Amino acid sequence: MPIIVPPIKCQGIKTKLIPAIKSIIDSPINGTWIEPFCGSCVVAFNLKPNKAILSDTNQHVINFYRAIQDDSITPEMVSEHLEKEGRELLEKGEQYYYYIRNRFNATQDSLDFLFLNRSCFNGIMRFNQKGQFNVPFCRKPHRFAKPYVTKIVNQVRAVRNILHSHQWIFQVADFTLTLSCSQKGDLVYVDPPYIGRHVDYFNTWTKHNEEELITVLDNLPCEFILSTWLENKYRYNSSLKENWQDKNLRMILVKHFYHVGAFEELRNPMIEALVTNRAVKS
Ligand SMILES: C[S@@+](CC[C@H](N)C(=O)[O-])C[C@H]1O[C@@H](n2cnc3c(N)ncnc32)[C@H](O)[C@@H]1O
Repeated sequence: MPIIVPPIKCQGIKTKLIPAIKSIIDSPINGTWIEPFCGSCVVAFNLKPNKAILSDTNQHVINFYRAIQDDSITPEMVSEHLEKEGRELLEKGEQYYYYIRNRFNATQDSLDFLFLNRSCFNGIMRFNQKGQFNVPFCRKPHRFAKPYVTKIVNQVRAVRNILHSHQWIFQVADFTLTLSCSQKGDLVYVDPPYIGRHVDYFNTWTKHNEEELITVLDNLPCEFILSTWLENKYRYNSSLKENWQDKNLRMILVKHFYHVGAFEELRNPMIEALVTNRAVKS
C-alpha cells in the first residue's frame, strides 16, 4: 500500500515509521485508536482505524482537520486559495509571505495555516511564546507553482475521503485528558515531543511531562505503542534505558532520517524506538 502523505508537515513526522508501526499492529484495531500527540496525523491516516480520538495541544492542526471533516474547507477551496495567494507571492515576493503570516497570527485562518506550512523555511512548525507562528519564508517566491498546488490538493482530497468514511474525533487537549478516556480494547499511540528537541510554544516537553506520561502509560487499561528515540550521532537517550528497559516490553528499533528540521543535528540519522506492551499474536 502506498503511504498516504498528509497536507500538513511538522517536525518529528512519523511517515518513515509507518511500516514498523504497522508490523506491531498485525490485526484489525477493534477498539478506539487514541493518539494524544497526533501532529500531522500521518500515522492514523495510514492505519485507518474505524474509530479514533486524535488530539494535540496545537489547535491549528486540529482546526485544519476539523474543517476538512465538516467541509468548511474543501479541496476546491484549497486549490483556489493556494493559486490566488501563490500568484500574489510570485508577484510581491517575500513580503507577501510575511503579510500572510501576520494575517494568520491575527485570524488563525486554517487556509493561511496551510499556505504558511507549505511555504515556510524547511517545513518547520514553530510558534513563539505568545503562540504566534514565527518561521521565516523558504525564499522560493514561485513556491505555489501549479504541480505543487495540485499535489497539496490531492493530499487534502485523500485525507478528506478518510475523514468522511471513518468515525474520528479531533480535539485540542493535553495528553493526560485524552488518555484518561482510554478503555480496555483501545489502542494508544503516543509520540510526544522529544526532550531538548524542537522546543517551542506547542512542543515544550519537560522531565515532569515525561514522568507524567510514563505513569499514565503504566496505568493504562489497554495496549500502547510509544515512539521515542534511542540515539543519533551526537546524543543517547538515557531516559529510554532508565524508564523502559526493565519493564519487559517489546522494543523495535528503526534507523530514521529526518528531512524536516532547522539544525544539522536533526537532519542526521536517528535511531528511533517503538516501545510496546502489545503482545505478539501467534
Ligand atoms: C513529535 S510531534 C507528533 C508527530 C506526529 N506523530 C506525526 O507523525 O506527525 C509531538 C506533538 O505533540 C504535541 N504536544 C506537545 N505537548 C503536548 C501535550 N502536553 N499534550 C498533547 N499534545 C502535545 C505537539 O503539538 C506536537 O504536535
